[in-house]
Amino acid sequence: MPPPLPIAVTAGETGPWQITAIRAVAGESLAPARRLVVEEGQAAAPPGAWRLRGVTSHLRYTAEAERDRLASVQEGLGRPAALRAALIPIRKSEAWWALAQDARRAILEEKSRHIAIGLDYLPAVARRLIHSRDLGEPFDFLTWFEFAPEHNSAFDALLARLRATEEWRYVEREVEIRLARD
Ligand code: HEM
Repeated sequence: MPPPLPIAVTAGETGPWQITAIRAVAGESLAPARRLVVEEGQAAAPPGAWRLRGVTSHLRYTAEAERDRLASVQEGLGRPAALRAALIPIRKSEAWWALAQDARRAILEEKSRHIAIGLDYLPAVARRLIHSRDLGEPFDFLTWFEFAPEHNSAFDALLARLRATEEWRYVEREVEIRLARD
């Protein structure tokens, strides 16, 4: 596992990604903006309309066989063909955080099949999970996905499947930000 890497996501007037839609799926939305940049380490972009921060981290719930399977099929960020992206900040409820680790894992995978469902969309979708909860941020996670335009509807289907799961009953705030670059 690489060491934790600070990430800053800034929405404003500059950045390589054009914001094509911002939609509140649960709870409060985020302010509209035109462009977005994801920076590793110190943020250099002007503050913009809003900025969200987080850090990459170790796996919490992924079993060894799942980790190996993911590693064998997943692709990395920044592929030239990945001209579409989604940033989906998520906050889970106090009820989720009150559960013990084994109970959270059981909901995430044994009941909701989050990893199994996700694997159906690899390697088309590349992703990064960013943790924000311990930084006192408004969201617990910033989730980031990149894919080619022809996989847009597959990504929509993935979202629909995950949002129908028991795990998503614990999601109290979720904002879907869709992005495009040339
Ligand atoms: C966590 C896989 C899509 C949101 C995880 C974990 C895995 C995973 C393995 C567990 C990480 C750990 O062990 O700590 C995948 C795969 C996907 C996918 C292969 C296919 C592209 C998504 C999507 C969303 C999402 C589309 C959002 C709509 C999350 C969140 C967590 C998570 C919020 C953290 C859960 C928690 O710690 O409570 N994902 N995922 N994932 N994923 Fe996904």
